[in-house]
This record gives sequence, C-alpha cells and structure tokens, in this order.
Amino acid sequence: MAVKPIRLFGDPVLRTPAQPVKDFDKELRTLVKDLEDTMLEAPGAGLAAPQIGVGLRVFTYYVDGTLGHLINPSLDLSEELQEGEEGCLSFPGLSYETPRAMRVVAKGFTMHGEPVVMEGSELLARAVQHETDHLDGILFIDRLDRETRKLALKAIREAAWTGDPVPQIKVSPHSTFGLGL
Ligand code: NI
Repeated sequence: MAVKPIRLFGDPVLRTPAQPVKDFDKELRTLVKDLEDTMLEAPGAGLAAPQIGVGLRVFTYYVDGTLGHLINPSLDLSEELQEGEEGCLSFPGLSYETPRAMRVVAKGFTMHGEPVVMEGSELLARAVQHETDHLDGILFIDRLDRETRKLALKAIREAAWTGDPVPQIKVSPHSTFGLGL
C-alpha cells in the first residue's frame, strides 16, 4: 500500500499537460496501484497521475463500487448535459455546481496494454471527464460559470491549505458527498 501526498491547486504540475504512456511496464502497474491506494484512502471517486506529481496520462476511478483505471484516454461526449456538484482532491473541502456531459464513451488502455472501451453516465461520466481534464492541465474551476468561478477563487484564496505543498488538513468525506475527484 502506497498512499502518496496529493498535490494541491497552485502546484504547477496540475497545470502541465501529461505525456502519453509508452511503456506498459511494472513501473506503470505500480503507478496505477499508488493512484488506487491514494484515491481510496482520501477518499475520492477519481484521481489522476498529475495529482500525485506524475506527468503521465493515467487515472483511476471508484464509482458505484467499481474500481478501475484508464491509460491514454480519449473521450466522446454526449450533447446532453448533466448538473451536479463536483469537487477535487486538489481543492480540499470545495465543491461547486459543474456542468458536464451526461454520458461518455472513453477509449484507452489497461495497465497491461490491452485496448479498452468504457461507457458511463452520470457520476462515472463526470469522473472520467474530470480526470481526463487533469491530464490536459485543466481543472474543474475552469468549467464553472463566471459567477461560480468568482466564488470559487475567493474561497481558494481564503482556504487554509492555499500555499501548502501538501494538505495539512483532513477533509471529511461528507464535505463533498464523496465527490472528491
Ligand atoms: Ni480533481
């Protein structure tokens, strides 16, 4: 079990686009395990490699009791949108109404290099979009409407963790209804 420190907003790694995985080796399998362990311990519904400081296109998710991962994802999004609150493990304690596509078809690879297609709706679709955004250096605050983003930026400035490289506070799993991503 290897739980890694989760990088917080302000860390440049979260704004750096991640590189595609080329080697499906033991190191990659260790990365997937570290992401799973860190995500489940947080607890969160998803975690992307840049959030533990690794610039590779890998994320894990844990939604509706299903634990999974995806490497080098590419997404097809539905035109239909969903509403709902969303949080992020890199923004402890904050969650906001964040528009997302209702359904997603995600193509990618398993950690063993096998091609895989996953389909999801609602929370799973939200998690897949959120984590894939992380791989492009995009954060959920970028997806908020103008007014909500203003509120979010104010809350971030006032947050106890702002400026800390590593979280100093333990976030209640209830504060974002388990929607940390
Ligand atoms: Ni996140």
